[in-house]
Amino acid sequence: MNNRAFRCSIRTLAVLSLVALIVSGWMGKRSSARTADFPSNRADVILSVNPSAAKRFSLLNGFQQSLRTQTATEKTVEQEQKNIKVLNGLPQSQLLPVMNLMSASLGVKCGYCHENKDNKWDFVSDQKPEKGTAREMIQMVLSINKVNFRGNTEVSCFTCHRGRTSPVGVPPLPASESAAGPPNTEEKPREALPTADQILLKYTEALGGSGAIDRVKRRTMKGTWLTANGITLGYELYQAAPDKLLSVLNSPQQGIIEMGFDGSAGWEKTTHGVRDIKGEELFYLRRYPDPFKDIKLKEQFTRLGGAAKDRIDKKEVYILRGVTTDNKRERLYFDAQSGLLIRRVASMATMVGIIPEQVDFEDYRDVDGLKMPFTIRISSIDPFYSSTRKFTEIRLNTPVDDAKFRRPAGQPVPGR
Ligand code: HEC
Ligand code: HEC
Repeated sequence: MNNRAFRCSIRTLAVLSLVALIVSGWMGKRSSARTADFPSNRADVILSVNPSAAKRFSLLNGFQQSLRTQTATEKTVEQEQKNIKVLNGLPQSQLLPVMNLMSASLGVKCGYCHENKDNKWDFVSDQKPEKGTAREMIQMVLSINKVNFRGNTEVSCFTCHRGRTSPVGVPPLPASESAAGPPNTEEKPREALPTADQILLKYTEALGGSGAIDRVKRRTMKGTWLTANGITLGYELYQAAPDKLLSVLNSPQQGIIEMGFDGSAGWEKTTHGVRDIKGEELFYLRRYPDPFKDIKLKEQFTRLGGAAKDRIDKKEVYILRGVTTDNKRERLYFDAQSGLLIRRVASMATMVGIIPEQVDFEDYRDVDGLKMPFTIRISSIDPFYSSTRKFTEIRLNTPVDDAKFRRPAGQPVPGR
């Protein structure tokens, strides 16, 4: 397979992971060069790692990754990559998130530390002195955390760099009022905050009550999917209980991409043909559009701590901190007034820092007695995974023809 074909296939892959946040192990041959729908570097980045790693990359980086259970059998970067000197022990699935974390912390792109010649990345090369400095910095961060913070990742690149390459080490003058003024000793009376159970109960009620929630057996959603680089894709999702689903993405460049699961088998249909979806890929296809993912919250956590109060855009919010059943930290933000969930922030701890990923729920509207967010915004330090879904239509319990979920007849994808 030539490079260009490979790159195209990776781009198609990228769409797929966008659609369903799935594992993308598809290395099928693509015949023509198309303009990418995705942030430019992405394909080259995946290209630069070996094909087996590419699979894991597209599968795991970004938001999805933070939601995935780390498997004990996963390889580490020094086993998979060619020139690892300081990140030894880092799970391979965290390599790209960590690279994104370093880039975001310094306010730079990959090319600040890595060679790019004639539009080809050479991540293995040690040509750029910045890469060497970054290695020293990684070692420093590991050592600070080990010596001063009992091995917890308290200090990360961002702690000092704050989005620039040279950290500011001297306080600016004139000193701000608050810094110069008397210390703030005024104590606010402590307000009694609701318990986690009360907040979750209020949320269920705000949505329409457990009766309305349990009545959901089918769901149809139509709207658009806006990628981080400004491309708008048409998006439709059809679901029938317990687990049948069909996702349709209409891309200006790649045409229509359908992915479905009929209760036993997964498939995908593109302009290139039809193929089966199995294993982890299927796991992600089915898991992501779970209609109850942001509704039935309690069962997703082993621990959900007491509330704190804060503000988002002038709105008072209650925040619950929790640990998910797969051992990831999350914060849940509820509108104190309406009781609705307006934000979820998941954190993935890596050896050089904590990587956050945020989902915002906006524009709640009533759909047959159940409140549903018509705008869902995902923000990630990896721009590839940042996206906004805006729905124009959501319907509950309208009949959906079962045939929709079954694998369509069609040519198998060539080259496989
Ligand atoms: C601030 C500097 C810096 C930035 C920015 C950066 N990297 Fe890295 N990258 C490194 C260092 C340092 C290593 C080697 C780590 C080691 O030796 O353990 C590395 C290693 C890698 C490797 C492994 C290469 C191999 O096989 O040995 C890949 C792949 C990679 N980076 C991709 C990226 C991508 C993609 C981006 C942009 C999203 C990026 N990097 C941004 C510093 C950086
Ligand atoms: C304790 C504070 C601190 C932390 C944490 C930190 N840095 Fe730095 N870093 C600095 C300072 C200070 C400089 C500037 C040194 C100078 O100007 O000579 C610097 C410089 C750099 C440079 C060189 C910039 C240039 O202009 O050449 C790179 C690259 C870099 N840091 C990467 C990182 C990475 C990657 C991390 C996280 C793994 C990190 N740093 C964490 C303090 C820090």
